[in-house]
Amino acid sequence: MTESAYPSISSQLDDVESAREEGRRKMDWATQHMPILEAVREEFIADQPFAGERIGMAMHVEAKTAVLVETLAEGGADVALTGCNPLSTHDDISAALDAHESITSYAKRGVDDEEYYEAIEAVIAHEPTVTVDDGMDLVAAIHEDYPELIDGIVGGAEETTTGVHRLRAMDADDALEYPVFAVNDTPMKRLFDNIHGTGESSLASIAMTTNLSWAGKTVVVAGYGYCGKGVAKKAAGQNANVIVTEVEPRRALEAHMEGYDVMPMAEAAEVGDVFITTTGNRDVIVEDHFERMQDGVLLSNAGHFDIEVDLEALDDLAVDRYEARDGVEAYEMDDGRKLNVIAEGRLVNLAAPISLGHPVEVMDQSFGIQAVCVREILANSDAYDAGVHDVPDELDQEIAEIKLEAEGVEYDSLSDTQREYMDSWDHGT
Ligand code: NAI
Repeated sequence: MTESAYPSISSQLDDVESAREEGRRKMDWATQHMPILEAVREEFIADQPFAGERIGMAMHVEAKTAVLVETLAEGGADVALTGCNPLSTHDDISAALDAHESITSYAKRGVDDEEYYEAIEAVIAHEPTVTVDDGMDLVAAIHEDYPELIDGIVGGAEETTTGVHRLRAMDADDALEYPVFAVNDTPMKRLFDNIHGTGESSLASIAMTTNLSWAGKTVVVAGYGYCGKGVAKKAAGQNANVIVTEVEPRRALEAHMEGYDVMPMAEAAEVGDVFITTTGNRDVIVEDHFERMQDGVLLSNAGHFDIEVDLEALDDLAVDRYEARDGVEAYEMDDGRKLNVIAEGRLVNLAAPISLGHPVEVMDQSFGIQAVCVREILANSDAYDAGVHDVPDELDQEIAEIKLEAEGVEYDSLSDTQREYMDSWDHGT
């Protein structure tokens, strides 16, 4: 591997030994609840599918991600990683990973923009043969600034909706020059991670950060996609009144038929107590909305980038701004109203000071898919041209089967007659 001038986490911490110990303790806990990665890890240790490969990763560096990173390293890879959000890294986990002889971690919490991109470049300096991204920043940096490395890259995998959107846009412009799996789009990922994971962990993070209850609150969920569905359902389950805002007519109708109030944000702004954006879009809550909001509202975002709530406009409107609690910034308006922003408008389930990200079981599924996608792209590289690829369904099923077995859940199989019937077209009435 090429050396990088940017320091790994180990040389950036005062007490690296105790950070490593604490990080390892958290990883051990996560491992106990990740039977899928456990099974995949055993296979990788035996088969060494990544021997001689260099994997570059930009992910939320916390305990569950660390189990994935180690699983890839123990399958024979040299891994270099950094964060995919300035606030979502857990330094102790990053330090524990950096202690592994085949892993270099540059991830650190609280980096500024310049350091964030320097750390990405440090990962790229390892000249990865495979990339694993959450949000596509690594793929973008390689294509924009290091195109000479592309020939050496076999392929990649992308974790989240926003990253897959960006990759598909790049692919449509013929600008994506190696194959990347859309891990986000598999059933085993998005039906669990985006829905249950984002729902549970966003609400838990907001409640823990504010010490406030959901019961009786009016919660405005912007976007009724996979993440929005989870947030709305879990908020309703905790006795909140849920309002949904949407721009897509079928999703607005779906929310209406689920029993939620659906209305434009301009109306929701006047009645909401808590706002959670989950659109993957920009400027969802803007100046006009801030002007209509009640005193004391909570503003948060669960989408990938911090552009859903227009904090610049809010800052312009504010006559004062101060930290109301750890992870909560109050913006005071000239009429005395205070609008409280959680985790700087960055994805709230990962970036608030006490956030832990999705529940472990959910990430076991998402990262199980990531792991087998890396195996697949290396084993069958000839089968994948440059561009975005759906994850082969048999890989998704493989992960579901491991999980069902670990949960002790048995299920039926098709009989030969049923299989034949399902595959035929000539059995009418
Ligand atoms: P999705 O595409 O299923 O849903 C987004 C929804 O937002 C769509 O229904 C769309 O019509 C709607 N929307 C777009 N612009 C809007 C606007 N201005 N107002 C109201 N609604 C609008 O995407 P998904 O999977 O729900 O992901 C959403 C975001 O969350 C993405 O940025 C994704 O990367 C991120 N994400 C975050 C996670 C977390 O841990 N916080 C986990 C998984 C995804």
